[in-house]
Amino acid sequence: MTSNGTGTHGAVLPDTAPDRNGPIVELRGAGKSYGNIRALHGVDLEVHPSQVTCVLGDNGAGKSTLIKIISGLHQHTEGDVLVDGEPVRFTTPREALDKGIATVYQDLATVPLMPVWRNFFLGSEMTKGPWPIRRLDIARMKETADQELRNMGIVLDDLEQPIGTLSGGQRQCVAIARAVYFGARVLILDEPTAALGVKQSGVVLKYIAAARDRGLGVIFITHNPHHAYMVGDHFSVLRLGTLELSAARSEITLEELTNHMAGGAELAALKHELAQVRGVDVEELPEAEDLTAPVATSPSSEGTS
Ligand SMILES: Nc1ncnc2c1ncn2[C@@H]1O[C@H](COP(=O)(O)OP(=O)(O)OP(=O)(O)O)[C@@H](O)[C@H]1O
Ligand SMILES: [Mg+2]
Repeated sequence: MTSNGTGTHGAVLPDTAPDRNGPIVELRGAGKSYGNIRALHGVDLEVHPSQVTCVLGDNGAGKSTLIKIISGLHQHTEGDVLVDGEPVRFTTPREALDKGIATVYQDLATVPLMPVWRNFFLGSEMTKGPWPIRRLDIARMKETADQELRNMGIVLDDLEQPIGTLSGGQRQCVAIARAVYFGARVLILDEPTAALGVKQSGVVLKYIAAARDRGLGVIFITHNPHHAYMVGDHFSVLRLGTLELSAARSEITLEELTNHMAGGAELAALKHELAQVRGVDVEELPEAEDLTAPVATSPSSEGTS
């Protein structure tokens, strides 16, 4: 891994966003092929400040491929990727970061045995004193990390504890606070709640909302429509590498989103198969018609008392 020496964002990544109302990041017909495997094709997506854009989809749908293009890990092979209205083609994650696009991966690039505050500044440490006797400014890093975590409403007992001792949810929260502090304008989260229980997921969702309220455009990757609907402003569902659905919150209900994710016909077939297996109660599964029919918004007059 190489460092190009520009790794000192401080908290003041220049707010390069010109005064424009358009999306920070936009994909137009973007796609990616790995050799002759077409992982992603013809995807349109917009990321606006102070909004959470949810990207949903089953395993292999192309979610990770999509964010790798935006975060500079892979390059798109079709269509356009624009940042602040300008076409870009990132060759390294560093280039994306320099545009204010920060990505929190599920396996979180943290050092488990290092204290929380140290991980907060990993790769962008604060220093003091003139060269060549410059050294780490530990007191200032601790104080800043503490303050920044508090600003996001994250209270940890002890910033000296190794980050490996925090829960998965807490680590996600520290990563979110870190991205906010280092001036991210777009925050990409790849399945941050996938490995978490109900309560911890709730905590992570809270900080996704907090990041949004601080003006960031958030891309939230998940396969959980309930989590998406709790914080999402826009929903994009991928299926086999193409965009199957793109809807604003006002255009879709949680039921409809869930049905899209489940795939009505597929679930009906699965239900039929499961019915043949002893000990599986298929009564609890929704009917196929419920899944394919548009969700009824007004009850019919029959039988109302
Ligand atoms: N480096 C690669 N080389 C070849 N094919 C790849 C590569 N990465 C992904 N693919 C293929 O691209 C498709 C989309 O994969 P991707 O990882 O983007 O899906 P995903 O939606 O993130 O899935 P998951 O929910 O399992 O993480 C899959 O068919 C996958 O096999
Ligand atoms: Mg993935």
